[in-house]
Amino acid sequence: MLRAPARVAGFIEGRPEGEQMAAKRAAIVTGASSGIGLAIARVLGQEGYGLTVAARRPEKLEAAAEGLAGEGFELQAIQANLGDEAEVQKVVSAHKERYGRLDVLVNNAGVGVGAPVAEIETKRIDMQIDINLRSIVIFYRECIEMLRASASEHRETLVVNTSSISGKHGEAWLSVYSATKHAVVGWTEAMNKEIGNDGIKSTALCPAFVDTPMTDFVKGQVAAEEMIRPEDIAESVRFLLRTSPACVVPEIMFVRPGEGL
Ligand SMILES: NC(=O)c1ccc[n+]([C@@H]2O[C@H](COP(=O)([O-])OP(=O)(O)OC[C@H]3O[C@@H](n4cnc5c(N)ncnc54)[C@H](OP(=O)(O)O)[C@@H]3O)[C@@H](O)[C@H]2O)c1
Repeated sequence: MLRAPARVAGFIEGRPEGEQMAAKRAAIVTGASSGIGLAIARVLGQEGYGLTVAARRPEKLEAAAEGLAGEGFELQAIQANLGDEAEVQKVVSAHKERYGRLDVLVNNAGVGVGAPVAEIETKRIDMQIDINLRSIVIFYRECIEMLRASASEHRETLVVNTSSISGKHGEAWLSVYSATKHAVVGWTEAMNKEIGNDGIKSTALCPAFVDTPMTDFVKGQVAAEEMIRPEDIAESVRFLLRTSPACVVPEIMFVRPGEGL
């Protein structure tokens, strides 16, 4: 018997009562309520992954989850503020309870707050570090058992960490954001060295301006249609899913025509 759809923490609840979903492969995508994360969730849904999608604002997340469910994907949506350790743990345990396995983890949620150095507010330093970096570390720690289990099965386990082109060069005014995104590149490299031999591959995505709500602040200077598409980033995840266990892609940069580092 299927339970009626329920608007609870896990929003789409079309599973047999008391049973785990029998998805062959499963993924967590954070920051999946818009932009890059939503596009990546769609690609993983198309590739047959059972999804746990997480983001902060419940209405926005619910709308995104409804859209994905309407496209026929198997998913649950978990509202969480990922700056909070307990909320990260909540997402991971909801995922484990529903799917019992984790093949792809996408650490994509992120925030950027610009300010000149003299005006940087401590609470905004903490917020960017907590969401952009600390939550990724905690996600790895909380997921490592499930990641190792899927890797021992097929050696195609993948973790994608959304960094930025600001993680490759320092950016004035976005200095704290740049620092956190550099840390994501460094963390990804460290994880490849530490757990790569277990069959867990990590990739840092480093895009320049992508047309998402995050870049609304700059759309007066750079037209949305001149920005990278969220789907361009998401297609790279499809490519990563198809690389052989012998091939690790530590990072991918995405720039606009005429741009370089
Ligand atoms: N757009 C760009 O040009 C660009 C370039 C390089 C890198 N990036 C990176 O790409 C990633 C995705 O950004 P985007 O451009 O797709 O922007 P976006 O559309 O604004 O998406 C950001 C996502 O992160 C979620 N999020 C933010 N704070 C959160 C928190 N405390 N807890 C849980 N979820 C939270 C947002 O949910 P709510 O909306 O509910 O907060 C949203 O789902 C970020 O890591 C960003 O730094 C973006």
